[in-house]
Amino acid sequence: MAKRKLERFAENATFEHFFQPSFFDLQAGFPLQGKWREDFFHNINPIIVELGCGKGEYTIALAEKYPERNFIGIDKKGARMWKGGKTSHENAMPNVAFVRSHAEMIGSIFGADEVDELWITFPEPQPNSPRSKKRFTSSQFLDRYRKILKPEGIIHLKTDSDLVYESTLEIVQSDKHPLHFSCNDLYQNTADEKLKDVMAVQTHYEKIWLEKGFKIKYLCFSLNPII
Ligand SMILES: C[S@@+](CC[C@H](N)C(=O)[O-])C[C@H]1O[C@@H](n2cnc3c(N)ncnc32)[C@H](O)[C@@H]1O
Repeated sequence: MAKRKLERFAENATFEHFFQPSFFDLQAGFPLQGKWREDFFHNINPIIVELGCGKGEYTIALAEKYPERNFIGIDKKGARMWKGGKTSHENAMPNVAFVRSHAEMIGSIFGADEVDELWITFPEPQPNSPRSKKRFTSSQFLDRYRKILKPEGIIHLKTDSDLVYESTLEIVQSDKHPLHFSCNDLYQNTADEKLKDVMAVQTHYEKIWLEKGFKIKYLCFSLNPII
């Protein structure tokens, strides 16, 4: 393994707000599950999760913009997350945490109704049929989110991918999940007050795709209760 990667892994372990539970740790019961506000943030503020946070810039930028909310970035790649971990550590940001984990384990990281909002930012499209269940907006993933989101909790999706946008919209409509907003070209809506916040902060990939002239699609929805 590259030396720099190993150094980053070692440094991640020194950040007090950077968690790297193994699959077995999560199976055994993650200590903060259901207790993030009480035992980690020490406040009663909303919890917002970014899934597939990459280097964590979006999580950090949102946390700076909204100090009265708590933000947790999740990704499976520790060397990437190091950047967000280091920035939030150096700036002693009290409303940020990172969890290195597979997104599939989200139900072991949070308790029932613990999360207020979930951001899914530029997820991998997983185009091949057997893998589509691995798409972050597949029905399987939505079932996982339902367990940890508050009933009125919100899911935001930003993507450059037509496949991700359209397949998600199809699931939302066919399963009659409450759809709050959808648009296949976010930056055509610059005059829309409701979207100003959504455009105000951009992820690493969002900037790359915008520079290349790609349209950014945005969906905002909630989930039906379990029937
Ligand atoms: C295209 S990048 C987007 C990064 C960031 N959200 C952005 O917009 O700049 C997708 C990220 O999802 C992460 N990812 C993919 N599958 C994952 C999984 N099953 N669990 C956790 N992270 C995953 C990758 O490691 C990568 O950092």
